[in-house]
Order: sequence, then C-alpha cells, then structure tokens
Amino acid sequence: MDEKIVRLKEWIDASDNVVFFGGAGVSTESGIPDFRSVDGLYNQKWKYPPETILSHTFFERDPEEYYRFHREKLVIEGVKPNRAHLRLAELEREGKLRAVITQNIDGLHQAAGSKTVLELHGSILRAYCSRCLKRFDADVINYGTGVPRCGCGGVIRPDIVLYEEQLDNDILRSAVNFIRSADVLIVGGTSLNVYPAAGLINYYQGNKLALVNLSSTPYDSEADLVIHEKIGEVFSQI
Ligand code: OAD
Repeated sequence: MDEKIVRLKEWIDASDNVVFFGGAGVSTESGIPDFRSVDGLYNQKWKYPPETILSHTFFERDPEEYYRFHREKLVIEGVKPNRAHLRLAELEREGKLRAVITQNIDGLHQAAGSKTVLELHGSILRAYCSRCLKRFDADVINYGTGVPRCGCGGVIRPDIVLYEEQLDNDILRSAVNFIRSADVLIVGGTSLNVYPAAGLINYYQGNKLALVNLSSTPYDSEADLVIHEKIGEVFSQI
C-alpha cells in the first residue's frame, strides 16, 4: 500500500474525531461529472456557461432554460454511492467520523448511510415554491416537463444554493464548528475554488490535514498529507 495511504489510515485508526469535507470529485466514480475537470460540466458546450445558468438571476429570468440544463445535466438516473461514500458512512458507524461536509447536491452520502451530512449547497432531492415556500416532492422538478409551478402560481425550485445566493447560516456555522474542533480533517474531490465553501479549511486548527484529490489545489502547500489519487481507490484502503 502507498506510504501516504498508510499514514492516513494510521491517523484515522487513532482518532474518533475525523471530519470529511468534499466536493464533486467524490461522486465522479458514481458517474456524475464534476465541474472543472476536462470532461467536467464547465468544459462542455452549452448555450450559456453553466455558472451563468446556475445563478439566481438566470433562474428568475429564464427558468425554462434553467430546467433544461437541470434535467439534462444535474439529474443522472440510477447513480449509486461509490466506495468513498460507503467507507465514510462506515467510519461514522464505527464512531470515528463526526461529520461529512459536502458541496454536492446529489444526496449520495445519505444514500450510503451517512447520518450527519452538512449540505453546503443544498440538494436536488428537495424542492420548494419560490413564492410561498411550500415543499414539493423532488420528482416534480427532476422528472417533470417545462417550468414546474405551485398552486399559488410561484415557480417551484430545487433546494440548492445558486450562484449569488447565500449559504444557509446554520449549516455554515455547524460546518465551522466541526472543522474547528476536528482532529483529522480529510478534504477530498474538490478543486477548492468556490468560496465561501473552500475557505472553511482555514478554520482547521490541527496538524492532520489530508487532501485527497486527483489534481492539485490551491491548498496543497498547507496540507500535512497530499494524495493525488482517485478517492474511491484511497477510501477502499483505509
Ligand atoms: P470541481 O469540479 O471544481 O472540482 C472537483 C475536483 O475533484 C477536481 O479538482 C478533480 O481533479 C477532482 N476529482 C475528480 N474526480 C476525482 C476522483 N475520482 N477522486 C479524487 N478527485 C477527483 O468541483 P467542486 O470543488 O465540488 O457549486 O466545485 C465546487 C462548486 O462549484 C460546486 O459545489 C458547484 C460548482 O459551481 C454550485 O453550484 C454553487
């Protein structure tokens, strides 16, 4: 086994306060493309840049086009948790992992059995009316046609954080608390480009920060351990 993976395993074996913070790269091995890799969403041809479509202004202005993108690119049928999701859920059951903090909106950590999951960017598995806030089954947005509307006339929207929107304060505060008090912090499958999520790492006060990411990130030089490998491969060995 790779010497770095052995070290990470030792850290985890010796701890009961591991926290995981991840992003789109955690789900690529489940068949969901990430955003910034060569075959990621941001490098595919689309009428508008995905960052534009995934913004509050765009959603308000052209919900029809938003939903075309949402159903074609964000909703992927039949996806299942991979080895990284499953091992994280197991580490929580073993009393080692305190929380999964994720930028993903796919619900795969919960599908794997994780209980304490902080979804910084929300989830496409929840929906609500943008006018009266009534909750809806996510099938309405993910598998319907056109722009889904509430009885009150408002547009039903996914419970995700679009660009220009604020992250939920309670979730953010809780994420800060978990990270601040973590013994081992594993950051994986994220390019650490999107704030405020990426800045959460700065709250970590320990000396066991592991970055598990295929490509390098702006935080590589600050980490105590950097593993540039597939996260599923790494987690199947720890
Ligand atoms: P990115 O697409 O920016 O980064 C994903 C990272 O995962 C890349 O650095 C890849 O190298 C790495 N990666 C891909 N597959 C991997 C694998 N199998 N194992 C390990 N690493 C792998 O995605 P995020 O950092 O999550 O926000 O992006 C953050 C936010 O940007 C998203 O939550 C989304 C997006 O705009 C909103 O929609 C608000």
